[in-house]
Amino acid sequence: MAELKGLTALITGAAGGIGAAMAEGFAAAGARLALVDRVDASPLAERLGPEHRAFHLDLLDPAAIADLVPRIGAEMGIDLLINNAGFGIVFPAEEMRVEDWDRTMAINLRAPWLMAAAALPYLKRSGRGRIVNLASQAGVIGLEEHAAYGSSKAGLIGLTKVMALEWAKFGITTNAISPTVVETPMALVGWAGEKGERAKREIPVGRFAKPEEIAAAAIYLCSQGAGIVNGANLTTDGGRTIR
Ligand SMILES: NC(=O)c1ccc[n+]([C@@H]2O[C@H](COP(=O)([O-])OP(=O)(O)OC[C@H]3O[C@@H](n4cnc5c(N)ncnc54)[C@H](O)[C@@H]3O)[C@@H](O)[C@H]2O)c1
Repeated sequence: MAELKGLTALITGAAGGIGAAMAEGFAAAGARLALVDRVDASPLAERLGPEHRAFHLDLLDPAAIADLVPRIGAEMGIDLLINNAGFGIVFPAEEMRVEDWDRTMAINLRAPWLMAAAALPYLKRSGRGRIVNLASQAGVIGLEEHAAYGSSKAGLIGLTKVMALEWAKFGITTNAISPTVVETPMALVGWAGEKGERAKREIPVGRFAKPEEIAAAAIYLCSQGAGIVNGANLTTDGGRTIR
């Protein structure tokens, strides 16, 4: 698996459940990693090897994005941008607070746009740039109490299509991945007990996804063989959204 050898992958939210699996998978596929998070991802970078680096970034801060991304681009190049970081808070639509709505949109939708725009010069230079945006089944179907989260992820799928259209001429493909519930520590708390069992019954394969399965989808979308896949929303949901 040296599919991504010689390429630099910038992964946001790298310290999280899916992000760590992404980091492991991309490193195993030969990529050099720029691990970006607002919490410290350097233990992960060190464990994976000396060629990988960790960077602190709060994705709520557009100026910090505009500062950091060119620094990473200059030091390491950027061939693959994985907009993985995300934020979710669930409330009945009528109870949602404005500050939670704005935070959700800023992290899940505005930040992937800002990251991609800042990375564009380096992705162009790459000649085989790839952008992968972590959306969700909640962006495809309506899920109760997911007004802000679902809207942000539906928006991200829309953003993916526009970037796919505008930047294909630069040799860059842009795709989304939409998982069902993924077995990360935090998701397992939110979907514990009867709520989780009910959710699993709605998934044709009868189980949640594993972080490694989401990483495998991202690695595929970044591979040479996926060069013709552009603007897609790859559902990694066991069939949940075909109902
Ligand atoms: N876990 C699931 O069930 C599931 C399902 C569908 C989609 N997703 C999506 O997959 C992605 C990864 O989710 P996860 O389950 O690993 O979540 P997680 O909460 O375990 O990790 C998210 C990471 O993003 C980082 N992050 C959050 N806000 C940030 C900010 N302002 N600046 C910088 N970093 C920030 C966090 O520090 C964390 O390391 C998210 O976009 C999420 O919406 C997750």
